[in-house]
Amino acid sequence: MTPPKPPKTGPRHAPHWKTDFSVDWDATDYVSRREFTRFLGLSSAGMAAGTVLIAGLASVGAQPVPEVPPLRLGKVEDFPPGSSSAFEYPQKGQYSLLVRHEDGTFSSYGQKCPHLGCAVYYEPREKVLECPCHEGYFNARTGDVISGPPQRGLSLVKLDIRDGEIWAVGGGGH
Ligand code: FES
Repeated sequence: MTPPKPPKTGPRHAPHWKTDFSVDWDATDYVSRREFTRFLGLSSAGMAAGTVLIAGLASVGAQPVPEVPPLRLGKVEDFPPGSSSAFEYPQKGQYSLLVRHEDGTFSSYGQKCPHLGCAVYYEPREKVLECPCHEGYFNARTGDVISGPPQRGLSLVKLDIRDGEIWAVGGGGH
């Protein structure tokens, strides 16, 4: 009578790595409800803390908008009615346009067209501001669009007249 053969399963027939580095797969795959809830809680808390940190850094890093100093443009009589004059304002490399209307009043706007950035100029016969690039027209008293492709009006430059002199005191730009 021959002795029974040993079974082919079990630790005796397992590869060496399984016996040398045994892992209880059932135990490692199991995540309890409590562990999962803790994971969700910690993740949410981490994201909330990150949001607060970013908001704090953004508020600390926010720079106040620098105030543009007033710019003297000249004496009122230097600008005859129906004339216009360009001047560098509110920053170096940015230009604005001063218009003196026929009734003696003034208006001023950033010279850059809000469509694609061409320089607008005053057209005294029609009494409008015109952009030559795509025939955009603006009201010379309000800066609003009259016709053409621009979707918004020109940026207003605030003016102040003191002791017979005219000053740009804010606004403009793009
Ligand atoms: S850039 Fe002024 S109308 Fe196009």
